[in-house]
Amino acid sequence: MSLSPDFLDELRARTTLSGLIGRSVKLTRAGREWKACCPFHKEKTPSFTINDEKGFYHCFGCGAHGDAIRFLTEARGLPFMDAVKELADKAGLDVPAPDPRSQQRADRASGLHDLMEAASRWFQEQLSGIDGSEARNYLERRGITDAARRRFSFGFAPDSRTKLKTALRHFELEKLVEGGLVIVPEGGGRDPYDRFRGRLMIPIRDQRGRVIAFGGRIIGEGEPKYLNSPETPLFDKGRTLFNIDLAGPASRDARRLVVVEGYMDVIALHQAGIGEAVAPLGTALTEGQLERLWRLVPSPILCFDGDAAGQKAALRAALRALPHVGPDRSLGFVTMPPGQDPDDLLRSSGRAALDALLETPEPLVDRLWHHESSAEPLSTPEQRAGLRRRLLDHASAIADPDVREQYRDELLRRFSDLTRPKPQTQWNRNAPRGGRPFPPPRQASASAKAVWSGGLGSHWTRAVLQGLIRFPGVVSAHSEAIAALPLAGRAATRLRDAMLSAAMLHGELDQEQLNTILAGAGASALEELRLKQSLAFSFTRRDADPERASRDLVLVIETLAARPGLDAALEAATIRLKEEGDEAAFQEQQRLRAARDDADRQLAALMEGDVG
Ligand code: UTP
Ligand code: MN
Repeated sequence: MSLSPDFLDELRARTTLSGLIGRSVKLTRAGREWKACCPFHKEKTPSFTINDEKGFYHCFGCGAHGDAIRFLTEARGLPFMDAVKELADKAGLDVPAPDPRSQQRADRASGLHDLMEAASRWFQEQLSGIDGSEARNYLERRGITDAARRRFSFGFAPDSRTKLKTALRHFELEKLVEGGLVIVPEGGGRDPYDRFRGRLMIPIRDQRGRVIAFGGRIIGEGEPKYLNSPETPLFDKGRTLFNIDLAGPASRDARRLVVVEGYMDVIALHQAGIGEAVAPLGTALTEGQLERLWRLVPSPILCFDGDAAGQKAALRAALRALPHVGPDRSLGFVTMPPGQDPDDLLRSSGRAALDALLETPEPLVDRLWHHESSAEPLSTPEQRAGLRRRLLDHASAIADPDVREQYRDELLRRFSDLTRPKPQTQWNRNAPRGGRPFPPPRQASASAKAVWSGGLGSHWTRAVLQGLIRFPGVVSAHSEAIAALPLAGRAATRLRDAMLSAAMLHGELDQEQLNTILAGAGASALEELRLKQSLAFSFTRRDADPERASRDLVLVIETLAARPGLDAALEAATIRLKEEGDEAAFQEQQRLRAARDDADRQLAALMEGDVG
């Protein structure tokens, strides 16, 4: 017998979970929640929490998790219907008689379940048979282990219009069509034919592990790369997440859940020992999928490509989540190195590299802030007002009043830090790059002047990048200073950032890693770097002594990185001198001025020519 979801929701809403559990377990209040020693495992300090608002319990020790019905079935061992009856009695609800229509739907679906299971088994047999040798080779080439092949029930659809249809002829043809396995050509005339032909078959399972659809990958290159099942009574694409059945339990142990873009990423993560990964099915995350994720962990981590499309997708997910965030409902964002998906990264750099990225996901608020604060220049009052308006719009999209208020405060605080900087925080290097111009230093020497024109001048930017490309080993040891350089131009900034993130992952960069980064930077950016004029330093000359050249490079980088701080301190000291006018303030101002001039002289001395 099946009960309608509406009835079950009503039942949950009318049951106070702490009241139910409190009858057998001693509870103590903890803010909005309750705490207790977990009834599902032995413990001395409480790690079991109950949230009445959501109607869920969760144990941070053993991962036990569920609602009132689950509690009665698991803690008391009641059969499902008995648990429902007991709760309904207490809540004063009548358990409804089974609805014949929903019963019919359930029957129809259960027939389809059998069909999908049979199809999956047949595809698996084909993969093991003679027809499957090419597909088996493909799996081997991609490094899919036999264990993973079995765990994910990989199969193969032979290149034929009739083989599946024939093999499953004990099912009605209508069922095969309804399940999306066979296509009836429009206009009649021709025979119905198998949808999946010549493809590696990956079953898509529901939360309970039942096959509900397939993704079919072409073997090798070709279009379309994946052919997926159409929507069927079993398969609602926007509510399904690939691997949710295995990732759900794994997420409780790992206390995290990773969302990647592709089937193959999920499988690669699984092989690397990260079982808590899911993927949407080639579309942007829906609200239904977000709700599913939040039922498992408070802040799922979304992994996106570093390219423009990936970053756009990240923003889209952020905006979609925003109305629904809560004190324990948010998202984290991880950006993959350019041109690599998680599968590629695992292959090229191993699990530690991916773990390093997953350890420090970017919070939702940062994602919004970085997007908006770097979307437009902020040099006019109109542009600044525009930014402020966009930030407030984002905050007001949040339904939860407490979180909304926090976002509003936080975003406005960042906004005022950015637009009305105090001298000390002016060169906070977390501020978005390229957002605001460098202040021109007073009395700068002629050659250093070119440094400060809206950030580093482009000649300087090119010189530094050329140096880093010649001496990539410098990147990891001086990453802080390199990160602080306000380089000119987006391409330059991207290239620098790619080097920094690769150095973060690998430690000292070698030539091969550098080549990958350069390949990702695009030919025109490199062309410009090579052909356009830069400044003459030892490190921009091919024939220089490498030891001296790399030493000079480090000196230039450190000096340039320290310059903004020095300028800001000098400006602050000058203001203090004007206001207080005492001897100490004067001394301090003189000292800073001398230090700044030293820095300029230092740069000038390292330069072997002048701006051409
Ligand atoms: P990707 O192209 O990133 O796939 O698409 P992938 O999983 O990394 O595959 P490999 O490594 O090239 O084999 C991401 C997801 O988008 C959907 C699939 O769900 C895929 O896993 N997709 C992609 C399609 O549905 N159809 C396509 O033609 C391509
Ligand atoms: Mn891939």
